[in-house]
Amino acid sequence: MPSDRSFYITTPIYYPSDLPHIGHGYTTVAADTLARWHRQAGDDTWMLTGTDEHGQKMLRAAAANGVGPQEWVDKLVNESWIPLLKTLDVANDDYIRTTQPRHEERVRQFVADIHDRGFIYQGEYEALYCVGCEEFKPESEIVMGTGEFEGVPVCAIHSKPLELLKEQNYFFKLSEFQKKLLKLYADNPDFVQPESARNEVVSFVKRGLKDLSISRSSFDWGIKVPWDESHIIYVWVDALLNYVTAIGYGVDEAEFERRWPATHIVGKDILRFHAVIWPAMLMAAGVEVPHQVFAHGWLLVGGEKMSKSKLTGIAPNEITDTFGSDAFRYYFLSAIDFGQDGSFSWEDMSARYQSELANGFGNLASRTIAMIEKYFAGKVPEPTEYQDADLAIQRLVASAARSADASIEKLEIHDAIKSIWAIVDELNGYITENEPWALAKSEDSRPRLATVLYTVAEGLRALAVLLSPVIPKATAKLWAALGAPGTVQEQPIREAGNWGQSKPGSVVTSIPPLFPRIESAEGEA
Ligand code: MSP
Repeated sequence: MPSDRSFYITTPIYYPSDLPHIGHGYTTVAADTLARWHRQAGDDTWMLTGTDEHGQKMLRAAAANGVGPQEWVDKLVNESWIPLLKTLDVANDDYIRTTQPRHEERVRQFVADIHDRGFIYQGEYEALYCVGCEEFKPESEIVMGTGEFEGVPVCAIHSKPLELLKEQNYFFKLSEFQKKLLKLYADNPDFVQPESARNEVVSFVKRGLKDLSISRSSFDWGIKVPWDESHIIYVWVDALLNYVTAIGYGVDEAEFERRWPATHIVGKDILRFHAVIWPAMLMAAGVEVPHQVFAHGWLLVGGEKMSKSKLTGIAPNEITDTFGSDAFRYYFLSAIDFGQDGSFSWEDMSARYQSELANGFGNLASRTIAMIEKYFAGKVPEPTEYQDADLAIQRLVASAARSADASIEKLEIHDAIKSIWAIVDELNGYITENEPWALAKSEDSRPRLATVLYTVAEGLRALAVLLSPVIPKATAKLWAALGAPGTVQEQPIREAGNWGQSKPGSVVTSIPPLFPRIESAEGEA
């Protein structure tokens, strides 16, 4: 049933200066799962991801590889960043690259517009810049280096030395937006989430805002400032605008109206850009602010943010080659509370794969189908009289579907999965208690056997629909194996908890295990 809601969700656009790692993959699958959920609920959904291709970091990475910046980004984007989407089974609706003309033209238009509105002036600037962050660092984020950088001020995130930059720049009057931003946070408590992120942003803005340097003149890998072509637009201003340029800002009003405002999923490292600078830029241009900025935590390795520059990056296909894309998606979205930091380990990944996906869900599916084949010649039986235990399953399916949808609304993906997984656990317990193999021994208990197997098949039907945004491949296979009509992705997710949708008489087909045993998994650990 189509709803009248529009849902526009974005990931950050990543720097393709290097290869993707599982941190980038994590943000992307989270946004994709939310998009898939809303799409399946009939909401008018749009998911955007892409790459942030300008700036000094990119220029240097290209130079270090002996090629020009365009050549470098084309290579990385085509060979690594776009293929990542397939690796992780991401169903994005659009992919924006900041070197595309559709973006560059509209960025110039936007910046010219806020210039005309009096929010930009020229000034002198001298400050410490981190190329890793592409940001002038406030004092609170500068620490003293250790090891090879002993005694030198370094960036707290990248642990690399900062560079002193002195330039004539154009500035955006960010300081004028303090009151308006504080009012925005007060009037819309959900604008920045989770709560910890919101508190951080509010106290940051309360301390006062400095104007923001929005142009650079010492290098030229970027979009030229419209009224002064000796400057390029600061890479973050350029990048943030992707969220509106991709949906027709300034050229296709109808499309823009249809999509905007967005829900932005970002890592907490780039929260302030999204929750402070970005809404201020939009306010300056007279454009509606985003619907929400949600900051998730970091994947940690050895207690520190995993990153390529610290050589702790793990490539997503190292995981998917062994476990598959469904397991990647399920693991990161269920094992880490969305919004909190989490540590990845091969041991934990293997253990959860085996106990939750293979033994819990996969095995439930295979044995149910095998029993329907064996006892009912492969046809979903017609239930007879429901008993208390069956009704308890029905109630659980209904309430799990409701709570999962409520959790998704709050972007608590881990809680949504937890609610749904209660169905897996209960159905496994239900089979053990009701012993279909014992009921099959006598003709007298066949009506009961029919009800028990219908109950499990119907529970699996609901599971396939509810888990489809998280594990699209396995649920599509299960849907076909259950002999259900159409595709699982067409099934209205907000109605998944309504009992009795499986048709008795549907022909099931046995399938290979949805999550096969991984012989090498223990060895990997
Ligand atoms: N290009 C900017 C974003 C511009 S958005 C207008 C940028 N790019 S990035 O390639 O550095 O990617 C940052 C994002 O990748 C983080 O915000 C986060 O979503 C994800 N992650 C990168 N490392 C991560 C972890 N170690 N853990 C979790 N997410 C991580 O910043």
